[in-house]
Amino acid sequence: MKDGFGRKIDYLRVSVTDRCNLRCIYCMPEEGIPHISHDSILRLEEIQQLTVLIHHALGLRKIRITGGEPLVRRGIVSLVKGISPLAETVMTTNGIQLPEFAAELAAVGLSRVNISIDSLKDQVIREVTRRDVTLNMIEKAIESAKENNLNPVKLNCVVLKGVNSGELADMVRWATDMGTTMRFIEHMPMTGSVCSHVPHDDILLEVSRDLGSSEFTGTEGTANMYETLSGVRFGIIAPVGGGMCANCTRLRLTAEGELLPCLAGGESLNLRDMLRSGREDGEIISAVHGLVAKKPHHGACGGVSMWRIGG
Ligand code: 5AD
Ligand code: SF4
Repeated sequence: MKDGFGRKIDYLRVSVTDRCNLRCIYCMPEEGIPHISHDSILRLEEIQQLTVLIHHALGLRKIRITGGEPLVRRGIVSLVKGISPLAETVMTTNGIQLPEFAAELAAVGLSRVNISIDSLKDQVIREVTRRDVTLNMIEKAIESAKENNLNPVKLNCVVLKGVNSGELADMVRWATDMGTTMRFIEHMPMTGSVCSHVPHDDILLEVSRDLGSSEFTGTEGTANMYETLSGVRFGIIAPVGGGMCANCTRLRLTAEGELLPCLAGGESLNLRDMLRSGREDGEIISAVHGLVAKKPHHGACGGVSMWRIGG
């Protein structure tokens, strides 16, 4: 279905939990997240039911499973199994538990994964994740993804001034050697996060300074893709400032069953309550249509929490 700005809304991001085994400084406060009662979180069957209804309403092309960290949710494999026949199903994960799950996930129809990596230095990785994570653990995650054909594996790095901003070119080289693609994400100022922002053009400049000039080769989803003269590819995702709005095809379903048409706010729809109060499928489908028709197109983010909406 097209929204009021002619955008085809066919990409659903489903946050399956607000919990995580890490505490990344750009995402969560050190003490973790405010407690949400067990009852307000969707059960796995409810996530599946709502995803099916949203698919009926819109005709989804792609579904991304996110969190928090999706692999900490018990039953995640059976959820992927239930959802993957609907549309291409992909996952964003911090990778820590991926070696345990990659084979099973691939077997039930997950098609690929994005893995977070914010530095090549153990000390910096620990500083960012506030947990004892090492580069070796992330390498194992990438390898398990590749071994199970969860390709192409994309790597996400949130660029943080004075933390990882000196090693971006090294990360692009490293990712290429690993047979993956590096994507740098502008840090979005979120509630509970404590870092400062490096804009798109500064990221591009830093990489180009080390790797030679890079040419813009087009967009891949919300990423601007670049290629150096020697053929090395990388992406930059610049959510700050609203530049992505024109190409935004997504909706988000939170772990609490709220359907959000836009990160920057605007109206949302509580599908959990509709489902639990026994509303007819047709009513839910119409409500999704109504929400998509009003999906905003603006920019400026603020006051949202990534662990609840799934990055
Ligand atoms: N700014 C930008 N990206 C973020 N993510 C989480 N918090 C932020 C933020 N404040 C993204 C990271 C992570 C994914 C789960 O969400 O890329 O890999
Ligand atoms: Fe967890 Fe991902 Fe947030 Fe880091 S960015 S704390 S891995 S949900």
